[in-house]
Amino acid sequence: MKANFVDGSVIEGSYAAIERIKKMLGGAAPRYYIETYGCQMNEHDSETIAGMLERMGYEKAAEKSEADLILFNTCCIREHAEKRTFGNVGFVKEIKQNNPGLITAVCGCMMQQREVAQRLRDRFPFVDLVFGTNELAVFPQLLERVMGGERVFEIKNIDGEIPEGLPIRRNEGFSTFVNIMYGCNNFCSYCIVPYVRGRERSRRAEDVVAEVERAAAEGFTEVTLLGQNVNSYDDEGLRFPELLRRVSRVEGLKRLRFMTSHPKDLSHELVMAMAETPNVCEHIHLPVQSGSNRILKLMNRRYTREHYLDLIRDLRENVPGVEITTDIIVGFPTETEEDLEDTLSLVREVGFSAAYSFAYSVRQGTAAARMEGQIPEEVKKERLQRLNAVIMESVNGANDKYMGVEGEILIEGCDRRGEPMMFGKLPSLKMVYVNGDESMIGNYYKVRITGTRFNSLVGELI
Ligand code: SAH
Ligand code: SF4
Ligand code: F3S
Repeated sequence: MKANFVDGSVIEGSYAAIERIKKMLGGAAPRYYIETYGCQMNEHDSETIAGMLERMGYEKAAEKSEADLILFNTCCIREHAEKRTFGNVGFVKEIKQNNPGLITAVCGCMMQQREVAQRLRDRFPFVDLVFGTNELAVFPQLLERVMGGERVFEIKNIDGEIPEGLPIRRNEGFSTFVNIMYGCNNFCSYCIVPYVRGRERSRRAEDVVAEVERAAAEGFTEVTLLGQNVNSYDDEGLRFPELLRRVSRVEGLKRLRFMTSHPKDLSHELVMAMAETPNVCEHIHLPVQSGSNRILKLMNRRYTREHYLDLIRDLRENVPGVEITTDIIVGFPTETEEDLEDTLSLVREVGFSAAYSFAYSVRQGTAAARMEGQIPEEVKKERLQRLNAVIMESVNGANDKYMGVEGEILIEGCDRRGEPMMFGKLPSLKMVYVNGDESMIGNYYKVRITGTRFNSLVGELI
C-alpha cells in the first residue's frame, strides 16, 4: 500500500517558521514543559514537539511552574483520562498569574474529538493553542500565530499523512521508541483510536531504518518499534517480519522490541523472524481483551480464544523463553459471569508475565457505546478486582520458573523503596533487582536469578 506523505513544502515551511521564531526570541531561552498522557505514540509525538521547540531555542523546564510554554498532549482511551486532563489544564490558571506571558497549548487524541476540544476551549480562556493529531508537522506555524497574538484552534478532519523529516528530542535513557506506522483501521467496537488517529498508514522502511540508525548513533541500545497493529505494516508489499529483520541489522542495536501485535494478524513469519533474529527480544505484547468468543465477536476482534491459544503455542514452540503480556477489558456490554470465567480461565491457561486490566469505558461514537446491556459501574469494578487477583496469582506463579536462570539485564535505575537496589529488564521484559550503584545505569550485566521482590525478580551479578 502506498501511503501519503506530508508535502515537502509544508515541512520546509515548518523549518522556516522555526527559524523565524528563533530570531524573534533573539537568544532568550524560554522554557517549555510537556505533560504527556496515554501511550507511547503520544510520548513519541511529544518528543517531536520537544525537538522543534529546542530548535527554536527553547529549553526544557524542570517544573511546570517555571515554564514559559506548557503543552498537554492528551489521551482519550478511557473516560478518567479525560477528567484528569481537564483538572490539570485548569491548574495552569494559577501558574499564569505569576507569568502572564505563559503560552498554554493542548494537543493529542482528546483534542481530535471536536466537542471535547470545544468544551476545553470555552472553559479555559487562557488556553492559547489547541491542535489535533494531524497538525504535528505544522506546530511551528501555529505557535508563530499564537506569538503574533492570535488564539489558535486547529483541528482538521483529514485522515492524516505521514510527516517525515521533523526534528526529535528523545527522552533521556538507553531505550527509545520509533514509530513505524500511524493510525488504525481495525475499529474494535470499544475503541476510540481509529476516530482520533485516522486511517492506518505505514512509513517507508528506509525511513524507519534511518531513524533507528540515528537513535543508535545517539547511544540508544534498545529500540521499540511502535504501531497500533504492527502486523499490518505494509510499505508497498514490504511487511513487518522483513522490516524487523532489516532494523535488527542496525549497528549498535542490542535489543529490538515492537508493539502492539494484533492476534488476528500475527503471522508464523513474524514468529520465525523473532526466533531467528538474536537481538529481537523474547517478548510479545499480545492483547487478548477477552477469553469469551461471544465477547470477542462483539468487540470486533476477529479471532477466537482457540486461535489466540494456537498463537501462544506457536510462539512458545519457536521462541525459547518467550514471555507474553496482554491487555484485558472486563465489563464489556452484555458480559455475563460465564464470559468473565472464560477470561479468568484463559489468564490461568496462558500464564502471562504481565497483564494490564481495564474496566470497559464507554467512548462516544464507537459501536459498543450504542450496544444494549451496558454493565453497571459497580459490577465492572468488582469484576476488575477478581481479574486482578487471578492475574497476580498467575504472574507470581510464572516467576518460580526463573529461579537459578541466567540472563542479561539493562540497568535502568535505582529503586529506593526499602533497601535501595538497582533494577533492569531481561529481554523478556521481566524486571530484575540487583545490588550495585548508579554507575551501572545504561550498561548490560549478566545475572543469575535468586529470588523475588514485589512482582519482580532478584538476581546476583555473575
Ligand atoms: N492497538 C492496541 C491497543 C491500544 S489501546 C491493540 O489493539 O492492542 C490499549 C488498551 O486499552 C487496549 O488494548 C484495551 O485493552 C484498552 N482499551 C481501549 N479502549 C478501551 C475502552 N473503551 N475501555 C477500556 N479499555 C480500553
Ligand atoms: Fe483500538 Fe483495536 Fe485499533 Fe487497537 S487495534 S487501536 S484496540 S481499534
Ligand atoms: Fe494512545 Fe491514548 Fe491516543 S492510548 S493513541 S494516546 S487515545
